[in-house]
Amino acid sequence: MNYFDLTGKTALLTGGTGVLGIAMARGLLSAGCKVALLSRNPDNLAAAATALAESAAGGEESILLLKGDVVDQSSLLAAREQLQQKWNRLDILVNAAGGNRKGATISPEDTFFDLHIDDFASVNKLNLEGTVLPSMIFGEFMRDNERGCIVNISSMAADRAITRVVGYSVAKAGVDNFTKWLAVELARKFSGRIRVNAIAPGFFIGEQNRSLLLNDDQTLTERGKTIITNTPMGRFGEAEELVTSLLYLCSDASSFVTGIVVPVDGGFSAFSGV
Ligand SMILES: NC(=O)c1ccc[n+]([C@@H]2O[C@H](COP(=O)([O-])OP(=O)(O)OC[C@H]3O[C@@H](n4cnc5c(N)ncnc54)[C@H](OP(=O)(O)O)[C@@H]3O)[C@@H](O)[C@H]2O)c1
Repeated sequence: MNYFDLTGKTALLTGGTGVLGIAMARGLLSAGCKVALLSRNPDNLAAAATALAESAAGGEESILLLKGDVVDQSSLLAAREQLQQKWNRLDILVNAAGGNRKGATISPEDTFFDLHIDDFASVNKLNLEGTVLPSMIFGEFMRDNERGCIVNISSMAADRAITRVVGYSVAKAGVDNFTKWLAVELARKFSGRIRVNAIAPGFFIGEQNRSLLLNDDQTLTERGKTIITNTPMGRFGEAEELVTSLLYLCSDASSFVTGIVVPVDGGFSAFSGV
């Protein structure tokens, strides 16, 4: 028996057009899933579909593009309708949409007292509400089918204080707690076959953090250097390195696992810095 087999399953990735989202989508396609990508920008969706075409053994029918905003309920309901018409089921939801906003961070020149509270709220909305709302709307397929897996994408910022990123950290800490809460709730009320877990990536180069970590000439910024110094494996992660943890959490290989947060971080969370 191949415990990791996902042949014939359907998956939806919010933020599926981002650097990490595309890599995870490719991994799910390679494991035999059909994959729906959801993001706001149709150009990003089209580019992601092109990038994934080679990995889609089942051809174009294996990839569904859904325009939607994770904090806009009506757009998610419209996306669910499309999914219903096309596949009428969902086995796996990956909540990967997320990111930061400048006003929700504290630059070295500023202090906490300069925080823009509207930006703080909007980063919380994107990362936390943008995980809760898709789980409600797409999780209904799993409720009806009495099985499914939700995987939330958290962050190292959830568990320990990382300088500057106050809004993002609070939101991702909420994602970790929500992961555990929803795991318990769904296991107790719906058959024990709907599981909810999270992956906490360490540091990977994505679009939202590229300029924070790399200079234009691709050398490390001061912050990039600090991160690498505090990552025992001495490098950033490659997006593909999230895939095996994702396949574990989405397959029967983890059939008795729910409510956990898996760090994929090159040792960052284990290291005291000394
Ligand atoms: N890169 C890292 O080092 C790192 C580390 C820890 C955690 N993470 C988390 O991993 C996830 C993916 O990160 P990434 O590096 O792949 O980011 P990325 O390359 O910036 O991609 C972000 C993705 O989210 C989508 N998105 C943003 N706002 C959205 C909204 N309101 N509704 C729907 N889609 C939205 C974007 O597409 P559109 O712009 O087309 O909507 C894009 O697909 C995020 O949750 C991030 O916080 C990343």
